[in-house]
Amino acid sequence: MTATITAALAAALAVAPAAPAQPAILGAVTVLPPPRTDGTVAVERTLAQRRSLRSFAPRPLALADAGQLLWAAQGVSDAAQGRRTAPSAGATYPLVLYLVAGRVDGLPAGVHRYEPPAHRLAAVAGGDPRADIATAARGQRWLADAPALVVIAAQPQRTAARYGARAERYVAIEAGAAAQNLLLQAVALGLGGTLVGAFDDAALRRVVPLGNGEQVLAIVAVGHPR
Ligand SMILES: Cc1cc2nc3c(=O)[nH]c(=O)nc-3n(C[C@H](O)[C@H](O)[C@H](O)COP(=O)(O)O)c2cc1C
Repeated sequence: MTATITAALAAALAVAPAAPAQPAILGAVTVLPPPRTDGTVAVERTLAQRRSLRSFAPRPLALADAGQLLWAAQGVSDAAQGRRTAPSAGATYPLVLYLVAGRVDGLPAGVHRYEPPAHRLAAVAGGDPRADIATAARGQRWLADAPALVVIAAQPQRTAARYGARAERYVAIEAGAAAQNLLLQAVALGLGGTLVGAFDDAALRRVVPLGNGEQVLAIVAVGHPR
């Protein structure tokens, strides 16, 4: 991971020595507000209202909402057992989430890795990569206007160590469960989003500094409806 970041940083410096300085956020840790485990919107209402949203208001995402969305997708719901909000084959937990912050209150623009046990974010890249992500997503320009993108990646080997070849399907199933959790939570918060599966793996990898063995399964764009 450290080697990947260092290599990415070295590459960025090598190709763009005169680029404007970005906030020095690499390694910065942001502790998220504690997630809420109760609310006033019925799950049935979130199911009835969820619709893919691709047009976002300029309003930034509150940090607490960003944290709530990440918790809904992959947060710890039983600290004693280490269990999370979404099911996982054999509790192997292969998913790794990255929050791409464009307009999130209190969070510098950049890519932040979600750490479920501590419910916090660790910055892995600075700057605003949403336009590059939109390009990697086969030119879906609307992604660049979403205040935040949640990149759902995975380390399939965590699951493969136990389940062998079936891990590929298990990991995909888990990504879907996490994404739906996030989308329903978005509705409950008065937000909306879209699950995006169309992107070029290699192009996306150049923008989001993944850890060793990680691969991206999906992107979820979220924000306030326009
Ligand atoms: C696996 C998967 C991949 C998807 N990829 C994209 C995508 O790349 N871009 C997009 O705008 N919507 C994408 N969608 C969203 C679908 O277009 C959307 O769910 C569908 O049109 C039904 O509309 P609804 O979500 O509003 O009910 C994807 C959905 C799934 C399940």
